[in-house]
Amino acid sequence: MPGLQDKVVILTGAGGSIGGAMAEFLAAEKARLVLVDLHEPVEVLDCVRQNGSEAIAVVADVSDPASTDEMARQAVSSFGRIDGLINNAAYYRSASQSRFDEIDVEEWDRCFQVNVRGAWLCARAVFAQMRAQSSGKIVNIGSNTPYKGVGGLAHYVASKAAVIGLTRALAREAGEFGICVNALCPDFIPHDGGDLDERQGEMNRRVLSQRCLPRTQQAQDITGVLRLLLGPDSDFVTGQSILVNGGAYFH
Ligand SMILES: NC(=O)c1ccc[n+]([C@@H]2O[C@H](COP(=O)([O-])OP(=O)(O)OC[C@H]3O[C@@H](n4cnc5c(N)ncnc54)[C@H](O)[C@@H]3O)[C@@H](O)[C@H]2O)c1
Repeated sequence: MPGLQDKVVILTGAGGSIGGAMAEFLAAEKARLVLVDLHEPVEVLDCVRQNGSEAIAVVADVSDPASTDEMARQAVSSFGRIDGLINNAAYYRSASQSRFDEIDVEEWDRCFQVNVRGAWLCARAVFAQMRAQSSGKIVNIGSNTPYKGVGGLAHYVASKAAVIGLTRALAREAGEFGICVNALCPDFIPHDGGDLDERQGEMNRRVLSQRCLPRTQQAQDITGVLRLLLGPDSDFVTGQSILVNGGAYFH
């Protein structure tokens, strides 16, 4: 499969658990990276550079239009083009687990600001450059939760369902400019490797029992599909949501 060498890829949420793993993978592919997060992802940036990949860090809040426009501007001024955008930043780790009638209204809004408005703003920010190039790949990181209808996280689940709708709508509008927009939807990936706290352990046991492939999912399990969606082998694939879930749910 063709690799991603020299592709200029913007990765939001680069300082997070899955973001770090994707950055490491993309560096090994020799992509040129724009690593975006609320705080400079210092460790990820060091790791990527040690792997010989060119990378810059951009501190940005994806829910803020001035930040996302600046993110795109810095990508173009550093590398001259934008081949890929991975909308990975999310209001996820700090999402409270509550029944739907107990979710705080401000928390609901923040979740949608980051997960939905953020993905839209980042796509909007890179659109002019991708359109000028007549090419580009946007990969929205979704989730299996809207397909399963997971309880206790209605704000997060609804926001990830909106990401699927956004993916389809953007694919319709961006296709004529040679831009593909797809969603990559992981299942539950525990944050701390082997040492799971009570909440993570319980969630992991539950999802393991749903899978055809009954093992814990790692962030590295999504990198093959990521390569496909960012690279030329998926040039005729758009508007799709690919579930990487060990067969937990068929779609
Ligand atoms: N871990 C899982 O089980 C799982 C499963 C399915 C989907 N996902 C999705 O994968 C993606 C990554 O999740 P993760 O598990 O690595 O979470 P994480 O919390 O480790 O990483 C999220 C990153 O996004 C950053 N971020 C948050 N708000 C931001 C903002 N406004 N602007 C810029 N950056 C912001 C955070 O600082 C953090 O570094 C998310 O989209 C999440 O919804 C995760």
